[in-house]
Amino acid sequence: MSEAASARSRLAADPAAGIGPLEPMLRAWLPAQRWFAGKGRTITGLRAVSAAELLPPGSTPGLLHLLLDVDGDCYQLLLGIRPSLPPALAPALIGHAEDGPYAGRAVYEALGDPKLAAMLLERLRSPGTLGPLRFDRDPQAPVPAGLVPRPLSGEQTNSSLIYGDSFILKVFRRVGPGVNPDLELPRALAAAGCARVPAPVAWYEAELPGSEPLTLGVLQPYLRGSDDGWQLALRRLGAGEDFTAEAHALGRATSEVHSALADALPTLALGPEQTARLAAGMTARLAATAREVPALRPYEPGLRGAFDALAASRGAGVRAQRIHGDLHLGQTLRTLDGSWSLIDFEGEPARSLADRRRPEPAVRDIAGILRSFDYAARSHRPFAPAWADDCRAAFCEGYARTTGRDPREDPVLLRAYETDKAVYEARYESRHRPDWLHVPMAAIRRLASGTDRGFGRTQPGPGPVARPGPGAGPGPGEGFPALSPHPRPQPPRRPHT
Ligand SMILES: Nc1ncnc2c1ncn2[C@@H]1O[C@H](COP(=O)(O)OP(=O)(O)O)[C@@H](O)[C@H]1O
Ligand SMILES: [Mg+2]
Repeated sequence: MSEAASARSRLAADPAAGIGPLEPMLRAWLPAQRWFAGKGRTITGLRAVSAAELLPPGSTPGLLHLLLDVDGDCYQLLLGIRPSLPPALAPALIGHAEDGPYAGRAVYEALGDPKLAAMLLERLRSPGTLGPLRFDRDPQAPVPAGLVPRPLSGEQTNSSLIYGDSFILKVFRRVGPGVNPDLELPRALAAAGCARVPAPVAWYEAELPGSEPLTLGVLQPYLRGSDDGWQLALRRLGAGEDFTAEAHALGRATSEVHSALADALPTLALGPEQTARLAAGMTARLAATAREVPALRPYEPGLRGAFDALAASRGAGVRAQRIHGDLHLGQTLRTLDGSWSLIDFEGEPARSLADRRRPEPAVRDIAGILRSFDYAARSHRPFAPAWADDCRAAFCEGYARTTGRDPREDPVLLRAYETDKAVYEARYESRHRPDWLHVPMAAIRRLASGTDRGFGRTQPGPGPVARPGPGAGPGPGEGFPALSPHPRPQPPRRPHT
C-alpha cells in the first residue's frame, strides 16, 4: 500500500484524527455556506463523526464523504480532491491541504463538479453499503445511467442536483439520527398510491454505531417545467389575474395528501390534556415573541384569547396525524398538466426531529398555506386584500371537496394555528427582515380582534364578519418599502418563499 493509501485507510478508521489537517479550511468555509445554521458565528468545536472515500483509493478526482459535528450539529459534506482544480471548478475551491492524506491537493465542494455528481448518481443506482453509508433504491423505478447533472440554484436549506431534467437529488446538510420525514412521508404516500408527491426512487443513509440511521439524501422524479406556487402566485398578482381556480385545486391536493397520510400512518384523537398542552406551547411562544418584538405587545391579550379558546375546546373531535409540517406556497409545485404536488416534507428545520414526527392537527398545514396567500397579496403593490381573501376561501372550499369538512368549520382551531404561525413570522421578520414585519403584523391585528377571519365574502360558519375598513388600524400601504425577494444576505429559511 502506498503511503497516501495507508493514510486514507487510517482516515476511515479514525476520521477525527485523519480530518485534522482539513479543519482550518473547513472552519473558514462552513460559516459562508447558505445551508449552515450557524452563519456568521465563529465555530468553536469541529469534529469528524465519519469519513468515507466513495471512489477507489487513488482515483482522480477523489470523493470524500464527511459527517462533521460542528458545535453540536451534524453536517454532511461531500469533498472533491484533485491535484489541481481546472478553472471551471475554481468557485468550488475550499482550500489546499498542507498535511495529512491529501497533502498538496485541492479540496473542493464535490457537488459543483459534474464528474463527481455523476459518480454519486451511479452509487445511488447500485444499492449496497460503503463504509458507514448505505445506498437503497426502489427496484420498480429504473434510473437510467449517464444522466447529466446540474446544481439547483437559489437559496435552499439543503443542496439539490438535477439529473438530465428527470431526477432531483436532495442532499441534506444538517442531519440527525432517525429517518427524515422528507424520505419517510413521500415513501408512505407512494406506497399508499398518492400521486401528489414525487415518490423517492433512491436514497442513502449513514449507519453509525449506537445510533439510528441518518437520512443523507433522496432522489426523486424532477417535475420538469413545473411552477413553484409562490412564484406563480406573484406572477398572477402582478398581471392582475385571479388565482382562485389554482387555490381551489391546491386545497384538493392538500386534502388528498392529508387523507392519505391519515390512512397510512398512526393518528390519535386529541383529548383535553393534549389540547391544553398545544395551547400552552403556543402561548409560551407568544410570550417569548412579545418580549422580543415590541410591536406585538399591544395585541398579546387578544392573541392569547385564540389560544385560551383552543384550550377551552378540549380538543372536541380533533384528530392529530402526520402532516407536512412546513407547508406554504413555496413548497408546492404546479406541473405542466395543471395539477399540484407538495414537496419538502422535512418540517420546520428549527424543530427537533421528534417534534417534527409527532402527529398534529392537519389544520397546521392549512394555516401555513392560508398565511402564504396573505404574504403573496401583501408583497404586491398595491396590496390586494380581496385577492388573498378569495384564494383563502377557494383553498378551503377545495380542501372540503375531498375530506367533506371545510377547515373554516373549525374556527377556533384554525384561528389558533394561524395565530401561532403569524407569531412565528413576526419573530422571524423582526430578526431577519424588519422591512417585512408589517406583513405578519397586519394578520396579528386581524387575529387579535377575533372577529375578522380573512375569508371575504364566502366565509361560512358562525361569527360576525368584519371587513377591514378605515377604522381597522394601519394597513400596509404606500408608506412601506417594496418587498424584495432577497432583502438580506443568507437569512435562515424564510417563512413563505
Ligand atoms: N421534484 C421536484 N421537481 C421539480 N422541482 C423540484 C422538485 N423538488 C424540489 N424542486 C425545486 O427545488 C427547490 C428546493 O427543494 P426543497 O425540497 O423545497 O428543498 P429545501 O429543503 O432546500 O427547501 C424547490 O423550491 C423547487 O423549486
Ligand atoms: Mg423548501
